[in-house]
Amino acid sequence: TWTPAAFVETTVAELKAKIGDEKVILGLSGGVDSSVAAVLLNKAIGDNLHCIFVNNGLLRKNEFDDVLHQYKDMGLNVKGVDASARFLDALEGESDPEKKRKTIGRVFIEVFDDEAHKVENAKWLAQGTIYPDVIESVSATGGPSATIKSHHNVGGLPDFMKLKVVEPLKMLFKDEVRRVGKSMGLEPNLLGRHPFPGPGLAIRILGNITREKVAILQEVDHIFIQGLKDWGLYDKVWQAGAMLLPVNSVGVMGDERTYEKCVALRAVESTDGMTADWVNLPYEFLQKTSNDIINKVPGVNRVVYDISSKPPATIEWE
Ligand code: XMP
Repeated sequence: TWTPAAFVETTVAELKAKIGDEKVILGLSGGVDSSVAAVLLNKAIGDNLHCIFVNNGLLRKNEFDDVLHQYKDMGLNVKGVDASARFLDALEGESDPEKKRKTIGRVFIEVFDDEAHKVENAKWLAQGTIYPDVIESVSATGGPSATIKSHHNVGGLPDFMKLKVVEPLKMLFKDEVRRVGKSMGLEPNLLGRHPFPGPGLAIRILGNITREKVAILQEVDHIFIQGLKDWGLYDKVWQAGAMLLPVNSVGVMGDERTYEKCVALRAVESTDGMTADWVNLPYEFLQKTSNDIINKVPGVNRVVYDISSKPPATIEWE
């Protein structure tokens, strides 16, 4: 019978034999798969594993710093690369969802390739690919591996793509990855994270992206997600997030008429992201969250809750 501990023991031995004393590069996304892959490889080859964690400027509030610290505390040899400006500049004026995705994928590859070149004599590229990625060849959870796969045939092959590939989680399902992570002592907050799309908040800001909109959405999203955690609802939800809509609506604040932005909150139940149902969150929670958002986030005067299931509505709005 399959056990996480036996998997770890066998895989670490195999990785040692396969890689020897060669260097490996791995892109961390903050998600479960790349984190578990990194810890497994770290157990096998230590600091010969060079992890790269890129801030694309479209992550959740405080995410880059918090997760980078957590990775360092776990003993990973990780380099944080803040490429926010490069991504946001490249996205300027872009409103089309697929073009946003392409731009982010392209810039990610450029940044990752630059960083990979700085690791001298690297021989391997590790990826957190899991079994469903292999059969669908599209990752529902995203992250660097998904980005790389869907874009590697655009233009010439970047140099890191010429490395030998190692994918230690390739035969595992998501729940098995979580169990493996748990058996190696990964923190529950890392293992229980909701899926988050590779293009991040870019596809939750409908229309063009500005630094101001990113800042607004980060605050809104933070209030919503922290609220779910405080109310013990986070683990009951498969994925949640906020969308910044490209509409202003009229409101009143004191004696003043306002004309400000509207945000939509979305929380879904799902097993694989292919189908999803909206979650029946308690009215009291929605009431409190809506008040907090409108009172604390300047520029937002209206909050709506998305009650659409997939299909036909997708989880993301773009
Ligand atoms: P949809 O919106 O298609 O989302 O119902 C299903 C799941 O996929 C995630 N998603 C993405 N992940 N890059 C990613 O890495 C993307 O471009 C992307 N689009 C959607 C979404 O967050 C959900 O978990």
